[in-house]
Amino acid sequence: MQRANNIDLRPSTIDDLAGVYSLYCTVAATPGGLARLPFEITRSYVETFLHATLARGLGFVAINEHGKIVAEVHSYSPEIFCFSHVLKDLTIAVHPSVQGRGVGRTIFTHFLSSVTTQRPHISRVELIARESNERALAFYESLGFLREGELRNRVLNPDGSLESDIPMAWLRPDTSDLKE
Ligand SMILES: CC(C)(COP(=O)(O)OP(=O)(O)OC[C@H]1O[C@@H](n2cnc3c(N)ncnc32)[C@H](O)[C@@H]1OP(=O)(O)O)[C@@H](O)C(=O)NCCC(=O)NCCS
Repeated sequence: MQRANNIDLRPSTIDDLAGVYSLYCTVAATPGGLARLPFEITRSYVETFLHATLARGLGFVAINEHGKIVAEVHSYSPEIFCFSHVLKDLTIAVHPSVQGRGVGRTIFTHFLSSVTTQRPHISRVELIARESNERALAFYESLGFLREGELRNRVLNPDGSLESDIPMAWLRPDTSDLKE
């Protein structure tokens, strides 16, 4: 377990279901961050991604001094061979009460460091963020993710407006070009 910013970081387990579910419900209550609306955050959704993460991915939780999960990050490989070097759909959520205090950067840096050292077969990590989530996009770029285009009008907002989704990827520095 790694300790930073008065929080402990550890790999997520299926026993974290209740804590991660509660976290995602709280984070989704603020529009413009997570893609899912509050009613789309279900125990089944969380259980499914925890299982996928444990089976073929990597995920961490951040625990505060009271034992509460205040942040979570996860990503997992698609189930077919040609994408077995990829972690997709990375999702990160930090409890609003501790947002802006470095927890997101700490847990995400730990995630990428773990990919680098513990998952040598992974050379690509993918995420998608909506165009208007500018702080999150800048955050991901600061961690080494590159924008890979623009999925125009992919996101339907609750007010009926459409906006672009921005696909981004982190490439393992020493294997970014496997042809060489
Ligand atoms: C985006 C998020 C993961 C960042 O984690 P955080 O702990 O708040 O961020 P940190 O304090 O580690 O700061 C990292 C960067 O995130 C950005 N950030 C901070 N608070 C943020 C917020 N509420 N929303 C979006 N970005 C934020 C800052 O620009 C910061 O950059 P800096 O270090 O150059 O100042 C977190 O705010 C969050 O969960 N937001 C809601 C859900 C969401 O948007 N998820 C991502 C969907 S693609």
